[in-house]
Amino acid sequence: MALRGGSDAVAVAETTTPREIFRSDYRPLPYRVGSVSMNFDIRDGKTTVESELTIVPGVGEGDLVLDGEADALTLLSISLDGKTMIEGVDYFVEGDALTIPSRVLLGNENDDFASRKLRTMVEIVPETNTQLSGLYKSGKMYCTQCEAMGFRRITYYPDRPDNMAVFERVRIEADADLYPVLLGNGNKVECGKVEGDEGRHYATWSDPYPKPSYLFCIVAGNLGSVSSTYTTRPSGREVRLEVYSEPENVSKLGHALASLRKSMMWDEDEFGLEYDLDVYNIVAVSDFNMGAMENKGLNVFNTALTLADPRSATDSDYERIESVVGHEYFHNWTGNRVTCRDWFQLTLKEGLTVYRDQEFSGDMMNSHAVKRIEDVNALRARQFAEDAGPMSHPIRPESYISMDNFYTSTVYSKGAEVIRMYRTLLGKDGFRRGMDLYFERHDGSAVTCDDFLSAMADANRADLTQFGLWYSTSGTPTVKYFTKYDESAKTFHLTLSQESNSDKPLHIPVAVGLLDKVSGREVVPTKVLELKEKEQTFDFPGLDGEVLPSILRGFSAPVKLVGSSADEEKDWAFLAAYDSDGYNRWESGQKLYTSLIFQTMRGVQSESNTMEHVYEAFQRTLALDTDDYSIQAYGLIMPSESSMAEELDVVDPVALHKARGDVKKSIARKFHSEIRAKYDELTSAMKSTGGEIKLDATSIGRRRLRNVLLDYLCSLKETPEEREAASELAMNQFQSSFGMTDRYAALSCLVSMGGEESVVARRDAALQKFYNDAEGDALVIDKWFSGKEAVLNVFCPDAYFDHLTYFFALRYLNHLEMCTAVQAMSDLPDVLDKVKALVEHPEFTLTNPNRCRSLISVFSGNAAHFHADGGEGYKFLGEIIAKSDKLNPQLSSRMGGALIRWKRYSEERGASMKAELQKLADMKPISNDLFEVVSRGLK
Ligand code: BES
Ligand code: ZN
Repeated sequence: MALRGGSDAVAVAETTTPREIFRSDYRPLPYRVGSVSMNFDIRDGKTTVESELTIVPGVGEGDLVLDGEADALTLLSISLDGKTMIEGVDYFVEGDALTIPSRVLLGNENDDFASRKLRTMVEIVPETNTQLSGLYKSGKMYCTQCEAMGFRRITYYPDRPDNMAVFERVRIEADADLYPVLLGNGNKVECGKVEGDEGRHYATWSDPYPKPSYLFCIVAGNLGSVSSTYTTRPSGREVRLEVYSEPENVSKLGHALASLRKSMMWDEDEFGLEYDLDVYNIVAVSDFNMGAMENKGLNVFNTALTLADPRSATDSDYERIESVVGHEYFHNWTGNRVTCRDWFQLTLKEGLTVYRDQEFSGDMMNSHAVKRIEDVNALRARQFAEDAGPMSHPIRPESYISMDNFYTSTVYSKGAEVIRMYRTLLGKDGFRRGMDLYFERHDGSAVTCDDFLSAMADANRADLTQFGLWYSTSGTPTVKYFTKYDESAKTFHLTLSQESNSDKPLHIPVAVGLLDKVSGREVVPTKVLELKEKEQTFDFPGLDGEVLPSILRGFSAPVKLVGSSADEEKDWAFLAAYDSDGYNRWESGQKLYTSLIFQTMRGVQSESNTMEHVYEAFQRTLALDTDDYSIQAYGLIMPSESSMAEELDVVDPVALHKARGDVKKSIARKFHSEIRAKYDELTSAMKSTGGEIKLDATSIGRRRLRNVLLDYLCSLKETPEEREAASELAMNQFQSSFGMTDRYAALSCLVSMGGEESVVARRDAALQKFYNDAEGDALVIDKWFSGKEAVLNVFCPDAYFDHLTYFFALRYLNHLEMCTAVQAMSDLPDVLDKVKALVEHPEFTLTNPNRCRSLISVFSGNAAHFHADGGEGYKFLGEIIAKSDKLNPQLSSRMGGALIRWKRYSEERGASMKAELQKLADMKPISNDLFEVVSRGLK
């Protein structure tokens, strides 16, 4: 394995237990930074950073404490108002803090002062920074990542979000040939050659908006770009938009740029929010711990979430890039202009911004039902899993050891659900009023979740006190219902009850509609019931006959819904057929599939004809004459193994995988001719449009549906005839399609085929052609190696949460990752050996997070193999985590998440998983990040 550069010392817990930080310990700053100017002198192997901080009095008593990571910074000089300071007298350095006593700031007069100038100079070494936090090198360029606590690896500073300061002048100096592009936050105010220093140049950036240090960013590199201008509509400000990458990727930046324009328009239309600087820059980098980062005026993106062209990107790639560009753009108001007081408030910016990007994507896709299905699916597979395991926490956590561990699915996705509930309870206009008041009150400041709630409440004269419990309650609540129809009173009674980890009942919006039990007609349209007590009965009078309720429409609250009907499956079948709520129609179908898959897994026959219900629902969905192809496609896809696993007390990943496969085959066999006919119909419809790759919702949906059908058709490979037919069909699609989505879907089916010579020959020919056509395009080569996009179904039932595995490992699998997944899909027994061999591959490195996640996280998400008998998979993962922890703790702790839910497996599996956790816990040194995850896992 190739390790780039030297290795960086990582903050570790040697003998002392790492410190736990509590939300209740928040204190305002007695002294803070009002404004700051910096100078970066970037030279290979030695970069110096000068900072001039204007220190002003804050709130309360105490000293000035500057954060600075001892392992990253070498202090060269420090002075106060021009006077050199003496260590041990004027300042003290202890661990990762530099303290200047208040008496030193107050001076002889012991008086209040208006401001002091504190100057420091430190040396840092970006070239050996493998943590990818602070200033580091990605390929040939320098870039920064400061959220949550990376700025303290660049300079001494009160590195907390409530210190908002104006970064007046940030000067960057570097070699002009190697680093022709120098970027910073805000607007560029100066640039030129460095006099007397041949070959060097500089640029100075200035950001007029006060911001916390986590939004700081600089970039220096040899970059190409695409650009355009955008004129804001409210005030006609002309903004230069520019997206940068390494020069060879410039042709793939257009989609990100177009997405940025759409995001800017959307925020103006929906929230009246306008951009506020003259430039908006985005830089794509290949080494990045996260997906993307919203630094003020200078976003940094993982290349995996930036680059796209029709030859290399699938429809999902395009959609995801648009939504991430939107997300980071929306942070400009929800995060940057109004930020978090402390990190416990993270959901204030992330939950809200995820909600906003979800709505944006729904609008862009022209289908909120499709978007909702995708989002709820992800929530249930990952957030419910997290909430049921040892990392469970409320969306506003009470404590942390390493903040990096709390960028979780709970804070993000459940946080977005909480915002959505405000919207449901207050209505569109009420929600908008709340947002307006929030900005009116808090623009330019660092606030709390309570401030957000108050703005929502005050703008609507609503009492949201009880609703506030959502911020402090962990775990997934359960809502139970039972129903009664009183014929004489013509009244339907719906009783709802709730259970949660909160002592007091939560305020839960439950959207309900009623369908006539005979005709399926909707007799009561969607109504939002407000469940505020432990148990409550809601009456629906004036009904002439029996009705069937459709409950929790649109997934109106992040809860588990439990019914009490005697014949649940019949009800689901009915709702799957007639519900006018698109989301619930889909949901009922999913329940049917799940029920059948579980019965198959347990080898039991149901008395309630589950199979018949499933067949009927499938057939009806397939026969729909609609052009809402995406909804149709999602109705035909069975639930993922990870979301089904959430419903089991003890999970046998191997058995679950097999049962799902068996049900799929039985459906494919039963409806073979109908599936084939629909497939052919879609094929001709596509041919008639001339083969152009359009990215509108109908075109995307048509491809989605056709590829789902292809997957069913290709699941039949029992006999030589079946294999021949399947491989021929997939090969046909492969050869006749231009766009990556269809080509890749066809290839995905082909790579899992083996047997007869003709079948193998087709598969290999397709792989060869795919490779040749790539002509060296790295992203296509990645897909060639990976060979399969549909890993979603087997992915990561255990990882307590990893945005990144979600965002990259699945779809941006590079060749290393998917060599593995291809094997996994073919269900070969030697996956682990292949993965071990790939770790030794010269192109594998633990220092690139995408690559590492690709191979290692994909393997640990490949449940049937990761959990194979003998525990070898766990052992392998444990060893990798141990190595990775020395380089990049953010990454190692995420990977550790795959081991912590040992309680839900068989005793034998659980014991081996736990043993690996224990080994990691005993490791010295261990990073704070990993320590927190393994020690929670062992509890
Ligand atoms: N602020 C985050 C990026 C971040 C998270 C940086 C944690 C450092 C630590 C950014 O806005 C974000 O949320 N990015 C997501 C993608 C987004 C579309 C949900 C990510 O990087 O996973
Ligand atoms: Zn974010």
